Amino acid sequence: ASLEMYVDLLPQMPKVLGYSLKYGRPAPTHLTIGMYQKKWKFHRDLPATTVFAFGTSAESATFPGPTIEALQGVPLWVTWENHLPDRHILPWDPTVPVAIPRAGGVPTVVHLHGGVHPPQSDGHANAWFTAGFRERGPTWTTPTYAYPNAQSPGGVLWYHDHALGLTRANLLAGLLGAYVIRNPAAEAPLGLPCGDALDRVLVLADRSFYADGSLYMNCTGDNPGVHPQWQPEYFGDAVTVNGKAWPFLPVARRRYRFRIINASNARFFNLSLSNGLPFHVIGSDASYLPRPVAVTHLLVAVAEAFDVVVDFSESSEAELEVVNTAPYPYPDGDSPDHLTGKVMKFVVAPARLWDDHSRVPARLLEYVKVAEEEAAQRRYIVMYEYEDEATGNPTHLYINGKRPEDPATETPRAGTTEVWEVINLTADNHPLHLHLATFQAVRVRGLVELEEFKRCMERLNDAARCGVARHAVGEEVAVPEHERTWKNVVKIAPGFVTTVVVKFLMVDTGRAYPFDATAEPGYVYHCHILDHEDNAMIRPLKLIR
Ligand code: C2O
Ligand code: CU
Repeated sequence: ASLEMYVDLLPQMPKVLGYSLKYGRPAPTHLTIGMYQKKWKFHRDLPATTVFAFGTSAESATFPGPTIEALQGVPLWVTWENHLPDRHILPWDPTVPVAIPRAGGVPTVVHLHGGVHPPQSDGHANAWFTAGFRERGPTWTTPTYAYPNAQSPGGVLWYHDHALGLTRANLLAGLLGAYVIRNPAAEAPLGLPCGDALDRVLVLADRSFYADGSLYMNCTGDNPGVHPQWQPEYFGDAVTVNGKAWPFLPVARRRYRFRIINASNARFFNLSLSNGLPFHVIGSDASYLPRPVAVTHLLVAVAEAFDVVVDFSESSEAELEVVNTAPYPYPDGDSPDHLTGKVMKFVVAPARLWDDHSRVPARLLEYVKVAEEEAAQRRYIVMYEYEDEATGNPTHLYINGKRPEDPATETPRAGTTEVWEVINLTADNHPLHLHLATFQAVRVRGLVELEEFKRCMERLNDAARCGVARHAVGEEVAVPEHERTWKNVVKIAPGFVTTVVVKFLMVDTGRAYPFDATAEPGYVYHCHILDHEDNAMIRPLKLIR
C-alpha cells in the first residue's frame, strides 16, 4: 500500500547562525556540526527510518540538516565531525573508485556547494575521514573548514557529503542541508517576503522505503559482473520535501519566497502548481536574476536550485498541489506516475489575515556581465557513457574520456574567464557543476550527423579533429530567460553542444578573506547526478597563477 499524501506538515529545518553578534555587530564564528546515525520519521504511517543526519548535536540532527545562515563578508569556520557507526546503512560498491578505510567506518567529507572558498576547505573527495578522524584520506589537511562568505548574496547554497565513490549513498542516507548567504543592507530594499515563516527552504529528494521504514537502495548492479552494486541512476517512488513524504503547508493569502533545492540522486523535477499559478523566479543557485521572470513550469535538475516567489493571493483555489512532470531519466525516460508526479500541497487560508507589504520588484540585483569575448581560453568538455557489450547497460561514465585520477587537464588561471564547449554524447541530460567557479550557458546547439561524430569521438577523443564545428550546426535552443544568470549547476542536453562562460572566480578574495585558490588539493567539476559522479563522471579542476 502506498502512503497517504499530504498528512504531514512541511517541517522548518532548524536554523544555525553562521556568525556571532559582538556589541550588536556581526562577527565571525566557529561552529561544530556532526554527522549522526539516528531515526527520522518520513511519514505519519511509516515506521521511523534510520538515516545519517547533520546537526549541532545528535538530538537536534535532522534530515535535511539545519539551514546555516551566513552573512556576506563575515567568515565562518566549521568543524565537521563524523559520529557515524562502523557500517553503512546502504549498499555501496567496492569496484567504483571509492574510499575504503582499512579499519571500517563510513568515510565522509563535506562540500559547501556553491561556496567560494580555499581548496583545503572544499571537501575534496579524497579528503574524507571516518569517525573521530580515526582514518583520513590522502588529501585530508584540516578538520576545520573556512568559508569566507565573500561572494554576493543571492543564490541558494547547500552543503553535502562528497566522499569518493560514496556520495550517492551518503546523500541518500541524509547527509545534506541548506546554506544561505545574506546581505541585509543590499537585500532589504528589494522588499521580498522575509522572515522565517515567509522565506523558506524547500529541499526536494525522492526516496524508496521498505515497509519497516528503512531506506531502500538496490544492492544489485545492472552489470553485476562489472559492478556488483552500482546502478546508473537511483530513483525513489516517494517524493520528500524537507524530510517528509508529500507534506502540506498552510499558507496565508499573500506572497511567499521559496528557495527550492533538488537534492535527489538522479531525479529531475519539472514543477508546476495545479491551478497554473506562476513561480516568479528571482534567482538561481548562484545569483539573483536582474529582473524577475514568471514561469508556470520550473525544470530543476539534480543539485540545481531556484529562488522563487509565489503569490497565493492570486489563487482562487483553496488547495494547490505542486506537480512534477519530468521524465526519469531526463529527458527520455518514463513519465512520473501518480506518486512521483506529486510533490507537496499548499493549503491557502480563506481570508487575508494581514496586509502583504512584500513585493516582487521589477529590478533585482545586477552582477558582473557575461562577456564571452573576454575568455582567456576555450575548451571542449565531452561527456561519455560506456556500455557493457553483453547487457547493453551502462558500466561507467567519463568526462573527456579520462578517469578521475588522471592528471588535471582543466587548469584555468585564477581570476580569468573561460569558454567551455560542453558536448553531450550520451542519451541523458547531465547537470554540470563546477566547484569555486560560477558560470552560465549562453548557447545551446544541436549536433548533426551525431552518430558519425560519436564514432569519430570514440576513436580519436578529439572534438576539433572530429570536426565539431561542422557538426554543431543543428537546431539552436534558447537558454530560458530565468536561467540567463550566474549559476553553479547548468543542464547539459544530450546531443547538443552547450557553450558556457565560466568565471574563476567571481569575488575579490583579497578583501574579505584572503586565500590561495591555486593551492592543493585543488577543486573538481562533475556531473551532479550522484550515481554518475561516483562512477566516474568527475575530473580535477586545478587553478594556476
Ligand atoms: Cu554539490 Cu561537487 O558538488
Ligand atoms: Cu551525469
